[in-house]
Amino acid sequence: MPALGVNIDHVATVRQARRTIEPDPVWAAVLAELGGADGITLHLREDRRHIQDRDLQVMRQTVQVKMNLEMAAEEEMTAIALSVKPDQVTLVPEKREEITTEGGLDVVAHAAKIKTCAEQLKAAGIEVSLFIDPDERQIETAKTLQVDAIELHTGRYADAANARARDQEFDQLVTATHLGIDHELLVHMGHGLTYRNVSPIAEIDGVSELNIGHSIVARALMVGFEEAVREMKSLVTL
Ligand code: PXP
Repeated sequence: MPALGVNIDHVATVRQARRTIEPDPVWAAVLAELGGADGITLHLREDRRHIQDRDLQVMRQTVQVKMNLEMAAEEEMTAIALSVKPDQVTLVPEKREEITTEGGLDVVAHAAKIKTCAEQLKAAGIEVSLFIDPDERQIETAKTLQVDAIELHTGRYADAANARARDQEFDQLVTATHLGIDHELLVHMGHGLTYRNVSPIAEIDGVSELNIGHSIVARALMVGFEEAVREMKSLVTL
């Protein structure tokens, strides 16, 4: 039964649309906890398009469940993480022009940079997870970087054009999960998960955490944040 990490970035997206003070992602984090979230996930992007430095600071003081900071493996972000000390950092790729994180981090191509960043975080007692595609070479390399966890990108599963393609992507996620566990890595998953497609993913044996954002924030507009999290939590823990 995986833990549910609720990504509150898009509450901040609505706020930043008007550069105002509401809605406050900190309030959403509180309601997510009340709804049963096991963790709060937030992505501080280099361009600060949604989460702001202030959000990170206030949430560090208020979030009582696991706090998971998504960030690029860059010096500026590493310094911020070392000062704020989230419970976990998930290293993600970042491109300014993308709408959302488009693919997994290429840990093979960027191994040296990731190693430097991960070593500093781990020395400060922060768990490190790498957001990667469900690919054997990426997982093997993640293992050599001595991180705690991998987060497998579920975007291709979520976006599959038909049932056959979805089954293929699902099988890859299962195989990648087994490989990660064999390498003693914790296996997380996330991206594009919704109320409709989450159940098979939540049932994969050995997956310890799911990070879900957009779908929960979208439903929260209709039913309220706490209720939206409660509904997702019930699907994840069935
Ligand atoms: N996991 C990671 C590493 C992400 O970058 C994101 C998107 O910010 C998510 C999970 C959540 O994706 P979604 O908003 O599609 O649920």
